[in-house]
Amino acid sequence: MSEQDGTEGAAPLDLRELSAHLRQPRLGGRVAIVTGAGHGLGAAYAERLAAEGASVAVAELDGDAGAAVAERITAAGLDAMAVTTDVADPASTEAMAAAVLARYGRIDVLVNNAAIFATVPMSRLPFDQIPVEEWDAMMAVNLRGTWLASRAVIPAMRARGYGKILNVSSGTALKGSASRIHYVTSKAGILGFTKTLAREVGPDGIRVNCVAPGNTLSEDDPAPDVLALRSSAAADRALRRVERPGDLVGAVVFFASSDSDFVTGQTLVVDGGALMH
Ligand SMILES: NC(=O)c1ccc[n+]([C@@H]2O[C@H](COP(=O)([O-])OP(=O)(O)OC[C@H]3O[C@@H](n4cnc5c(N)ncnc54)[C@H](O)[C@@H]3O)[C@@H](O)[C@H]2O)c1
Repeated sequence: MSEQDGTEGAAPLDLRELSAHLRQPRLGGRVAIVTGAGHGLGAAYAERLAAEGASVAVAELDGDAGAAVAERITAAGLDAMAVTTDVADPASTEAMAAAVLARYGRIDVLVNNAAIFATVPMSRLPFDQIPVEEWDAMMAVNLRGTWLASRAVIPAMRARGYGKILNVSSGTALKGSASRIHYVTSKAGILGFTKTLAREVGPDGIRVNCVAPGNTLSEDDPAPDVLALRSSAAADRALRRVERPGDLVGAVVFFASSDSDFVTGQTLVVDGGALMH
């Protein structure tokens, strides 16, 4: 279906036309940036968006890891580029957007996935033992980085009257989680950021939504304590199993595609039914 300009609803298609449309790649011709896509969940999002037909920019602090993910995608005959990016740095996020525009000429989708979480590790300590420097770094990457990356791509989206921004919060922000108050606070900030940005850029045809993953086994080779932590989460779920990156990619594609063009400011919890709100 064609892009919407924010004033027209999706036009009804006849069934034959609809069926032909559904046989095309859902994100064919679209350009998506996934931040923090060199590892874990971001790499899974980048691969799936590429498989759905998008040209994908892997924007990652760890340049070698980002290049490896982009190479894996192109080796499969799909389209990707790597752009080394520090989302906490305004100049770096501007350079990210410029590099993607230079290569592809447009930006349709931004997935704000980069965070201090596992690859760049965080302390799991009581609230009064978190180092001040780590609190500040957490906010700089997880919150400021989401704002800066959005700010960098919005002019290109505005110019075309269409865009999809998907932020990444966490189930912990909705229910609280002891021992990493800086991380949970940053992810709670993403909820307000999503709603506010959605209101500001909605008139420009830009949709801003959020996905809140549950405790997900995102590491390729998890340490035994990480594996135990992720596995134990299964007990609280309606669907009693470990959550893996593949459990999240469908929601990401939904928010990136035109199927969600009349959805904005929303947060979808994808956690097998641990949290129901
Ligand atoms: N895995 C889970 O259980 C879980 C649960 C809820 C939310 N999340 C969120 O999902 C996202 C991905 O998590 P993950 O499990 O893949 O963890 P991860 O730590 O492997 O992924 C984060 C990625 O961001 C990159 N990154 C860190 N700082 C950066 C910066 N300044 N600029 C650019 N890139 C940077 C890292 O190198 C890494 O590739 C994060 O936002 C995380 O908070 C994860």
